[in-house]
Amino acid sequence: MVKGNSSTAVMQRRSLPARGLDFFPTPPWATRAFLHEVLQAEFAALGLNSVWEPAAGADGTGHAVGSFIGQGPDVIAPIPVEWIITNPPFNLAVDFAERALREAKVGVALLLRTSWMEGGERYERLFRNRPPRLVAQYCERVPMVAGRYDPTASVATSYAWFVWHQAHFRKETRLIWIAPGAKARHLCDADLKRWAS
Ligand SMILES: C[S@@+](CC[C@H](N)C(=O)[O-])C[C@H]1O[C@@H](n2cnc3c(N)ncnc32)[C@H](O)[C@@H]1O
Repeated sequence: MVKGNSSTAVMQRRSLPARGLDFFPTPPWATRAFLHEVLQAEFAALGLNSVWEPAAGADGTGHAVGSFIGQGPDVIAPIPVEWIITNPPFNLAVDFAERALREAKVGVALLLRTSWMEGGERYERLFRNRPPRLVAQYCERVPMVAGRYDPTASVATSYAWFVWHQAHFRKETRLIWIAPGAKARHLCDADLKRWAS
């Protein structure tokens, strides 16, 4: 079971109710681009041995299901890991960041709309004292649609990875780009087969 919060943040091009699960799977090519071109390139020396994806959606099939954010017995207890990496539900993203930063030993990476860096509440709760070490902006759009991966989808929203390194609080944020052509570089036939069924 997963619990939501009472946030009323408006979500561009997302029609699920604010208290819904917000299941918009990340295109697999976009995840690979981040892992290979950002995480391994920039952070491998810090340790990449254990990663927790706490909002896996379909990828969590076969594993225990619980809430990363919420209250009650379904909230998952801490799992010792070096990294927490996810595309979180948008309305709970700051809560996800705060819990992830309490638990991950090395770093946290969250895939979010680029515009997530705006906003007074996020600034006060997160960015003022804990700016990310790095923001990795996709040059191309990363279309996400409700409940499935659609390689033909398009989107008007821009996405970026916000990456914190635990040993790098209260310093400047570096901005990098995930170069154009990431979809072509990382698309696999197996992804299309998997989501076609
Ligand atoms: C935008 S989707 C991304 C799914 C997956 N992380 C990915 O990248 O494909 C957000 C996911 O967060 C999950 N979710 C929503 N509320 C949650 C909570 N309180 N705790 C854990 N997961 C939650 C939803 O089930 C959904 O799968």
